[in-house]
Amino acid sequence: MTDKSETLAQIRAANNLDEIYPVLASLLATPGWHKKRPSLWKEPRTEYTPQHWSYEICAAAIDRAGQWISTELAERRNTLLFNPVGDNDYDTVRTLVAAYQMIKPGEYARAHRHSPNAMRLVLDATPGCYTVVDGVELPMTPGDFLLTPGGCWHSHYLGEDAESNAYWIDFLDVPLVHRLEPMFFEEHPDGYQPVDTRASEHDWYFPEAMTSRQLAEQSDANGWRRLTLDTQAHISTVEISYIGLDAGRTASFVRDTASRILAVTKGQGSARIGNREFTWKRGDVMAVPSWHDFRLSAGEDATVMEVSDMPVLRKLGLYRQA
Ligand SMILES: [Fe+2]
Repeated sequence: MTDKSETLAQIRAANNLDEIYPVLASLLATPGWHKKRPSLWKEPRTEYTPQHWSYEICAAAIDRAGQWISTELAERRNTLLFNPVGDNDYDTVRTLVAAYQMIKPGEYARAHRHSPNAMRLVLDATPGCYTVVDGVELPMTPGDFLLTPGGCWHSHYLGEDAESNAYWIDFLDVPLVHRLEPMFFEEHPDGYQPVDTRASEHDWYFPEAMTSRQLAEQSDANGWRRLTLDTQAHISTVEISYIGLDAGRTASFVRDTASRILAVTKGQGSARIGNREFTWKRGDVMAVPSWHDFRLSAGEDATVMEVSDMPVLRKLGLYRQA
């Protein structure tokens, strides 16, 4: 008998359901009335948890590690901020990852390109720090925000005359690409990427002086305001906003289906995300998983960057607020 006729015979000879289940399992089929776990539930439930990371502590760890890890050894000398879900050691939230990165004076982080989109928020850098994106050299000074759209060659360097190390936060939609699977990555054949133009104004570059002025011009809502950056034409998977809070004020946000990473660019304060409470200061990062309400309170005038996957949810018709 062939395997197929044997299987058919087993099914036809079954005296009860329990004799059918192993046959179906051998066919990689599960009866819908007998599945191990539900596939539908009343409202979003995420395993990702609210988290907070200290820039001061992570920078100290990267500085110490930097004695032994050169940019030759590590493609990027960075520290990934992961959410403790199962064996995950990468995702910050379901769709996005954040990392602290450091380079030393005279170092060059090799050019590469990949399908995921990347962004940088500069925390500390002395003059001479640059990112090159597809031949366009963009400055990296404290508070600046830069785009590296998916598919663009990018490299970073810090001039050897710089006084101190440079630090920034990387944000990438790599976890989203992991889930959808269209990952492509390529190292530049020359390692080094030539500079074609030097730009201090560019669609990929949001200098601190510009965004802080634009944020201050936004209409006030009970002591806080929001500036959403014009980035959709270049990176369509994330929305980037600055939230500006006056000292002593609180901004509250309802639950929605977007996942978020928050990064503090100025000031200090406290946060409640879901049922967890944190205190934060400049450079710190927080994770707001989907379907978690959150509240930010400023102890002094503060600015918090919000990186969210809201555009993905909206495009797919899956965006919803509580
Ligand atoms: Fe990269």
